[in-house]
Amino acid sequence: LPAFSAGSHIDVHLPGGLVRQYSLCNDPAESRHYRIAVLRDAASRGGSVAMHDQVREGDTLTISEPRNHFPLEHAPHTLLLAGGIGITPLLCMAQRLRATGASFELHYATRSLARTAFRDEIAAFGDRVKLHLDDGDAAQKLDLPAVLAAQPEGTRLYVCGPTGFIDFVLSTAKARGWPADHLHLEYFGAAPQDTTGDQAFEVRLASSGQSYTVPADKTVVQALQEHGIEIMVSCEQGVCGTCLTRVLEGECDHRDLYLTDEEKAANDQFTPCCSRAKSKVLVLDI
Ligand code: FES
Repeated sequence: LPAFSAGSHIDVHLPGGLVRQYSLCNDPAESRHYRIAVLRDAASRGGSVAMHDQVREGDTLTISEPRNHFPLEHAPHTLLLAGGIGITPLLCMAQRLRATGASFELHYATRSLARTAFRDEIAAFGDRVKLHLDDGDAAQKLDLPAVLAAQPEGTRLYVCGPTGFIDFVLSTAKARGWPADHLHLEYFGAAPQDTTGDQAFEVRLASSGQSYTVPADKTVVQALQEHGIEIMVSCEQGVCGTCLTRVLEGECDHRDLYLTDEEKAANDQFTPCCSRAKSKVLVLDI
């Protein structure tokens, strides 16, 4: 299979036409198989339930080549922070860091021992791993300020997990003066957006000059699709960047987790799978 680096994910095409991204969690040195892990989440938008209920051993699934938006950078020490099933890309990183003899530690926060994925595999990392169980005693809970304070100069931090966990880690680190370029994150699903105040707006295509209305209850991708204009999408929730489109005029209302704050402020591209417009018209470079 094509080689991959730690932190990579693949797009998986599921029964029913859904496409979802999953991090590869096997050792990047192994190229004879890819491994993903999918938590069954009844509250999900359908991907995890389709995987659990409709995919059977022996089935063939279409997948993309691996892509990496969450690469490991060289550092004197690496701090990996996993919340729940966010362990998957970090497990792959831990394998890579161990293989290269690099200095690292992994903190893995989960609900209970019974709900801890990869328990045995993680135990093999010995004292470089600390488990923090929600239902365990107070002494073993993740004391993030203390963990951050104990890191040597130049440490890079990687976090993956639910949105609330990532936001908590980032805000705690930033408040303690960690440089933004040493904080690396990967969301695996966006929090639901409040769409009650959404308004209709126009998009104009630079190539044809044609304008289309995006109603309050549709995304730009959906509105254009109805007129036969396809924008390639994958996650459809502003996480993967597949749909990224250049904006030539107008003001974007960014709703994604993909672009950085600086990129959003530049206002020259947006993710039409979820982002909208603050101005009445957006002119798109398509
Ligand atoms: Fe993933 Fe738009 S399709 S960000």
